[in-house]
Amino acid sequence: MQEQRDPVPEQRESTPGEEERASTTAESDPFLAGLPKCELHLHIEGTLEPGLKLALAARNGMVLPYADEAAVRAAYAFDSLPSFLVQYYEGMSVLRTEQDFYDLAAAYAARAHAQNVRYAEIFFDPQAHTARGVAFDTVVRGLTRALDDARRATGFRGHLILCFLRDFQAEFAMATLVQALPYKDWILGVGLDSDEKGNPPLKFAQVFARARAEGFRLTMHCDIDQENTTEHIRQALDVIGVDRIDHGTNAVEDPELVEKLLDRGIGLTTCPISNGVVTEGMKAAEIKQLLDLGVKVTVNSDDPAYFDGYVTENLAALRDALSLTDAELVRLERNAVEISWAPPAVKDALLAELDAYGA
Ligand code: HPA
Ligand code: ZN
Repeated sequence: MQEQRDPVPEQRESTPGEEERASTTAESDPFLAGLPKCELHLHIEGTLEPGLKLALAARNGMVLPYADEAAVRAAYAFDSLPSFLVQYYEGMSVLRTEQDFYDLAAAYAARAHAQNVRYAEIFFDPQAHTARGVAFDTVVRGLTRALDDARRATGFRGHLILCFLRDFQAEFAMATLVQALPYKDWILGVGLDSDEKGNPPLKFAQVFARARAEGFRLTMHCDIDQENTTEHIRQALDVIGVDRIDHGTNAVEDPELVEKLLDRGIGLTTCPISNGVVTEGMKAAEIKQLLDLGVKVTVNSDDPAYFDGYVTENLAALRDALSLTDAELVRLERNAVEISWAPPAVKDALLAELDAYGA
């Protein structure tokens, strides 16, 4: 049986961090545009743009209470992880058929290719679909087919990471893992997302141990400024034995955690624009501190259709906040390639390209 999600807390009145969202020069910057990119923290359901949402709703005979794309966007009101998640889950209810999942992933792959993203590891949330009656096969087959077609058409490489929803019971996650076993060739690794409050990594220790034994790579969200955040990062590192951490920026508060990240070469997938929406600011200073300490920090877009920025805009926002040099931008992409789960030949080719681009 599934458990109910916690009720959503009251939203804050203001939107802290909004003022820190620097107006970026992403579009017009030739260095950023040409930079070969690698994205490691991207929820495919979070790439559902208002236009596609309306089109899929119409195709599926659903009536949404929005006249147009602007109205969809105008209804977005979130300033915390839980308030974002309410709209994220509601939005994805238009995804029903294999073709819907195909169209979603095809749209992201086209945008990523346009931003010179060469390689992406892409989260999907199967439980958010199976819990409302969509078959696991429908989800994974539509996404995989779109990524295969994109690879053939443009060379963009996208691979899937199955995320468990941490606000559901561990038993549901385990059942989902078992459901995924026949699709192992299509799924690189597993992750953990959704509402972190009261849902520590430990809750999923058995699920992740089984996933490891089945040959999956492991990552998990340690979202920004959560209750017991540094303890959650410690559990991810010492109990779960993750290969990397999504967000994880609060590690900077604890020298022991930083030491562990450095010793084990474990990277962090940070998401500056999303940080600025759901927490107090982009956490640019913390990201820079970690980068300077040698932690393999990367820059990613999280849920770009909701947070209004794909990876180029995230790089531009961070660069503008910190006056990052071109060499530092190349370093961020090198970090991403290094901590990715791409085969060595793909990594070597991308690293060589980045070296040439930086020089
Ligand atoms: N954190 C947790 N859950 C999520 C996120 C995130 O950044 N995006 C989509 N689901
Ligand atoms: Zn995320």
